[in-house]
Amino acid sequence: MTSARLRVWQVRRAIGSRPTADDIAFAELHLPPLLRTLFSAASPRDQRHSVAAARWLISQGQKDRDLVQAALLHDCSKGRQSVPERVAFVLLDRDPITALLARQGRGPLAALGRSARHAEESAELARRAGAGEEVVRLIRLHHVAPPPDERLAWLQRADDVE
Ligand SMILES: [Fe+2]
Ligand SMILES: [Fe+2]
Repeated sequence: MTSARLRVWQVRRAIGSRPTADDIAFAELHLPPLLRTLFSAASPRDQRHSVAAARWLISQGQKDRDLVQAALLHDCSKGRQSVPERVAFVLLDRDPITALLARQGRGPLAALGRSARHAEESAELARRAGAGEEVVRLIRLHHVAPPPDERLAWLQRADDVE
């Protein structure tokens, strides 16, 4: 599946999804208190997605604490978005020029802007909440292709799986 089609499929699959009590307990087990607060502030859909990504990593033997924390927080700044906004972002993100325009999204296009900037903004939120340097780095680079190192490659695979 191409990456744009994969992302659209993920958006459709995520509609209305919410974390279960087990998901929340899982996040609490793997995050220190200040980072739990950041996780709780993410949209229910992103909480669900992030726990699924972190669970997948662990199922693959990738239990590294920084990697699991990065998976739990990698999209934490995205905030609320409608389905059309998420699909529009996926489509705009395919091309460098439209991706740049999406980054400027303000006003009615604010959600697009948040999506386009979310890797940096999520990293910054995590840094301010006291995440470790490596967690912040992994979040900041989680959409950089090709991934510059193996740990980041695992995070990107987890992001695509769930
Ligand atoms: Fe992301
Ligand atoms: Fe993600």
